[in-house]
Amino acid sequence: MKGIILAGGSGTRLYPLTKSISKHLLPLYDKPMIYYPLCTLMEAGIREILIISTEQDLGRYEQLLGDGSTLGISIRYAVQPKPEGIAQAFIIGEAFIRGERTALILGDNLFYGPGFQDPVWNEDDALVFGANVEDPERFGVVGFSSEGHVESIEEKPACPKSDYAVAGLYVYNSDVVEVAKSLRPSRRGELEITDINRFYLQSGELSVRLLGQYDTWMDAGTHESLFKASQFVKTMEETRNVKIGCIEEVAFCKGWITAGELMKLGHPLRNNPYGQYLMRVAGRGSAG
Ligand code: TTP
Repeated sequence: MKGIILAGGSGTRLYPLTKSISKHLLPLYDKPMIYYPLCTLMEAGIREILIISTEQDLGRYEQLLGDGSTLGISIRYAVQPKPEGIAQAFIIGEAFIRGERTALILGDNLFYGPGFQDPVWNEDDALVFGANVEDPERFGVVGFSSEGHVESIEEKPACPKSDYAVAGLYVYNSDVVEVAKSLRPSRRGELEITDINRFYLQSGELSVRLLGQYDTWMDAGTHESLFKASQFVKTMEETRNVKIGCIEEVAFCKGWITAGELMKLGHPLRNNPYGQYLMRVAGRGSAG
């Protein structure tokens, strides 16, 4: 399976923070925001990843993550010249996808919990995740029949049919490229991911997996949610004495890098808790 991280956009809701820096490079507590979605893809066993961002920001992601080889994965990069919608990722990524199943994750989304550790995503033609939220009208919302079957997905409805929002992680079969190409821009001028989900829903191929009781989904697109997400990471890390969103540790646990390679990644950071953690994990020869 291939993975795409969409890390472009304008980030206007975070101004002035994002006037001169890309949103997904901002810190979520002790690491750049993009580490978390990258970790989520890696947890699913995905080793071929495409990062899509703006022309001006792409170089910074390359500087941060390189070609992925130190993590035992491959990372490639592509430009989205203008923020013309989430679904455009599949058109930009066509050559990368090359007829394979693909997971797309939004660069400002954080998923955490048992449902995202070693998950299996290859059983459905299209799989999205439903999260119970307080403000469904801000998202794509899932409507259910009385038997609990998914009946509709509506983008930012004034009267939401449920409290379940579609989270920013989508897994599709390779048809998605053609589906994306067939879309017309919405009234706000974007190729909408909800239209892709609707297509799969109408053809009877869409599965919606509801997040489990112990799973968390957050986005970090506003000042308030950025702060909350940082606080969440800090609390989880302190109370459990583990790191979350730690790409080096996931690479090691998956067996993609050796303990010696992990030690090498930690060594230059040895004067801070992040590097010390990597070296501790490498020294123990197992996770956490
Ligand atoms: P949004 O938060 O909807 O948009 P934004 O990041 O541009 O922020 P704002 O509304 O504050 O101006 O985007 C969700 C995620 O998807 C975010 O990580 C950016 C990414 N994105 C793109 O990379 N390209 C796009 O065309 C769109 C619409 C979003």
